[in-house]
Amino acid sequence: MAESTKVLVTGGAGFIGSHLVNGLLESGYSVAVVDDLSSGQLRNLNHQATFYHCAINDPKVLQIIQREGPEIIFHLAAQSSVRQSTLDPVADADSNVLGTIRLLSAAAAEGVDKIVFSSTGGAIYGNPDTIPCDEDTPPNPITPYALSKYVSELYLDLYRRTYGLEYTILRYANVYGPGQDPNGEAGVIAIFAGMMLRGRSPNIYGDGRQERDFVYVSDVVEANLAAVYRGDGRTYNIGSGEPVTINQIHSQLQECTEFYQDPVYRPRRAGEVLKIALDSTRAAKDLSWEPKVSLEEGLRHAVDYVRANSVRRSARARFGANP
Ligand SMILES: NC(=O)c1ccc[n+]([C@@H]2O[C@H](COP(=O)([O-])OP(=O)(O)OC[C@H]3O[C@@H](n4cnc5c(N)ncnc54)[C@H](O)[C@@H]3O)[C@@H](O)[C@H]2O)c1
Repeated sequence: MAESTKVLVTGGAGFIGSHLVNGLLESGYSVAVVDDLSSGQLRNLNHQATFYHCAINDPKVLQIIQREGPEIIFHLAAQSSVRQSTLDPVADADSNVLGTIRLLSAAAAEGVDKIVFSSTGGAIYGNPDTIPCDEDTPPNPITPYALSKYVSELYLDLYRRTYGLEYTILRYANVYGPGQDPNGEAGVIAIFAGMMLRGRSPNIYGDGRQERDFVYVSDVVEANLAAVYRGDGRTYNIGSGEPVTINQIHSQLQECTEFYQDPVYRPRRAGEVLKIALDSTRAAKDLSWEPKVSLEEGLRHAVDYVRANSVRRSARARFGANP
C-alpha cells in the first residue's frame, strides 16, 4: 500500500485504538477515527487523526465513510466489557452486533476494500478442552460479549461472500499496556496496578488460579498493520500462547509496585473463562507475526504508565492544574 492510504479506525479513542492510530500515522497512513467516547477518551487520540464523534450504530457513519473514502477500516469500536455485557446484553448487541452490521453495510456500499476486525480469542472459545487452542477450536461463547463478537465474525464472512468486502479477523488474547484505564471494567493488569499504587489490595474473583494469555498492546498494533497486506478472508489468534494465572500476575505486580499486601479473594463471577491460552502459529506463518514484548517487560511499562498518570492526577487535584 502506498503512503497516505486513507484508513478509518472505529474505536480509535480507546485503549488499543489510540495505539493503533499512532502506529498507522507513524507508518504514513492518513487516519480518520469514529468513536462515540462511551469508554474512550479524546485526550488519548493523536491530533493528526481526523476525529468524528459518532456511534457506529448511527446512520451518519455512511456519510463519514463517503466523505473520508477509506480503503481499509480497522473496526475496534465495541462495548468492550464482558461484565457489562452480562448486565445489559441488549446494549451490548446494539453496539457490537447492530453497529457492526451498519458499518459493514456502509463499507460495502462505498467500496471499502477491507475490514480488519478486532475480535476476542480470550472469550470466543469459552473453556476449550485443550490449551493453547488454535483457530479450528469451535467457538463456544459463554457471555453476550463473546457471542456478539462471534456473530460479527459471521456477518463479516457473509458480507465477503455476498458483496466482496474483504476481511481479516484478529482474535486477541487479554491485551494490556499503557493507556488502559485503571478505573475501568476490564483490564485486570491496569486495575490491579492502579489499586496497588494507591496502597489498596485488589480483589481477585475466584481462587486466582484461572489462567489467561496476555499480549502487549504494541504487538497487537503490529498484527493489525500486518493484516493490511495479508490474511484475506482468514481468522488469526493473537496471543502469547503462555497461560498465566491471575495469582501470578498479582505477585509479579507486587514486585513492580512494591506493594506486598495479600489480595482480597471474592466469589467467582458468572461467565468467567477459567483457562485460556491462544496458539498463534497461523499468524506466525501467514502474517509473520510473533509477540515481541515479554510479560515482565510489558508489566513494567504498564505500571510505569499508571504511576505517571496517578502522579499527574493527584497534582491536578492538589493544584488545580489543567489536564
Ligand atoms: N482489551 C482487550 O483485552 C481485548 C481483547 C480482545 C478483543 N478486544 C477488542 O478490541 C477492541 C478495542 O478494545 P479496547 O480494550 O481498546 O476497548 P476500549 O473500550 O478502550 O475501546 C473501545 C472504543 O470504542 C468506542 N465505542 C464503543 N462503542 C462504540 C460505538 N457503538 N460507536 C463508536 N464507538 C464506540 C469507545 O468509546 C472506545 O473508544 C474492542 O472491539 C474489544 O472488544 C479487546
